Amino acid sequence: MGEAGRQRAVRAADAGRRQRMTRIAIAGTGNIARIHAESLRALADPVELVAAADIEPERVREFCAAHGVPRAYPDLSSMLAEARPDLVHLCTPPGGHHAQALECLRAGASVLVEKPPTRGLRELEELAAAQGASGPWLATVFQHRFGSGAARLTGAMRDGALGRPLLAICHTTWFRDQSYFDVPWRGRWDTEGGGPTMGHGIHQLDLLTAVLGDWVEVSAHARRQARRTQTEDLSLAHVSFANGAVASVVNSVVSPREESYLRFDFERATVELTHLYGYGDDDWRVTPVPGFEQSVAEAWEAGPSGRASGHGAQFAEVVRCLRAGVAPPVGTDGALRTMRLVAGVYASAFEGRSVRCAELGPDSPFYERMDGSGARWAW
Ligand SMILES: NC(=O)c1ccc[n+]([C@@H]2O[C@H](COP(=O)([O-])OP(=O)(O)OC[C@H]3O[C@@H](n4cnc5c(N)ncnc54)[C@H](O)[C@@H]3O)[C@@H](O)[C@H]2O)c1
Repeated sequence: MGEAGRQRAVRAADAGRRQRMTRIAIAGTGNIARIHAESLRALADPVELVAAADIEPERVREFCAAHGVPRAYPDLSSMLAEARPDLVHLCTPPGGHHAQALECLRAGASVLVEKPPTRGLRELEELAAAQGASGPWLATVFQHRFGSGAARLTGAMRDGALGRPLLAICHTTWFRDQSYFDVPWRGRWDTEGGGPTMGHGIHQLDLLTAVLGDWVEVSAHARRQARRTQTEDLSLAHVSFANGAVASVVNSVVSPREESYLRFDFERATVELTHLYGYGDDDWRVTPVPGFEQSVAEAWEAGPSGRASGHGAQFAEVVRCLRAGVAPPVGTDGALRTMRLVAGVYASAFEGRSVRCAELGPDSPFYERMDGSGARWAW
């Protein structure tokens, strides 16, 4: 179903209002799970947070006490069998996402999985195939698609007010010191799945592809400049899109002045977004070409306002869709496009050549894992 169809179905269900609250459970009660619990509690559309599971008994007990969750479980399987949630938020390390999401879908529960949804494209395609036509579904947390600024940008593009997109800049210049990688699952291909391309820049790459659509070809470099990890600590890429736009990308965790920066140069305006981990309306800047000030401003102002990007903004949409009986965003098609771009960056960097999106099928070693047949580092 397209975005317009999804919105129609959601509005129809809002009008008829199914009354049963969505029953949600959280698997993995570490850092990000706290944001999930707090964002769920703050939703205007109330949900029932029925259970949480973690393999660390003390952690899940404390989490349940802190967030008023009635039942704590030592593992996902017993939580699925006993609590029977409608939706499971997977907040576990990436290496477990595929098997855990598959278990949820097979038990009839939809899944909202934290990024990255899987370690490779095969695993994500398997999850896509395990969904039912009318649910259960899998959605991935890519929270920066959901602020009102992103909706204004895509709306103004659809109206034709900005003209053709020509050039984009997509920078994730973040800083993680060596102690960040002390957490055992971080910085390893088998457990985290990749470095800052897969784990950090993926947020900005997802918004880039949500705005510019299908990508065609990528040429990239990856390096370990400063951190002791198996994965890269920075990557650089040039990407061409099917609509003719080209983008320059940086994904880094070695950049002391941190920033998330997206810039789109259209024929009639430059649109920029500067923030770190979440944006509001004031973080967007629109610079029209002289002569187009009024048409560009009118198209921008016609869009929604006042919604910050973040987990809560995405959760609100996910819950509305589930209540309406339609697949929630960001579904597997959208997540696959972003994950193919991540795989393309690694394939190009490790094979030392440009890579086309169409090459990243089952015959490519980068379909299975982001380091393909094993990264050989020159640095
Ligand atoms: N969207 C964002 O902005 C954002 C930000 C940070 C992290 N994340 C993502 O969230 C996920 C978790 O990251 P984190 O920083 O919270 O990690 P974390 O290590 O703090 O927490 C993970 C928790 O999962 C538990 N766990 C591990 N295996 C389990 C299993 N089989 N069953 C149940 N529990 C299990 C661990 O005991 C731990 O408590 C990662 O995929 C990460 O990339 C997303």
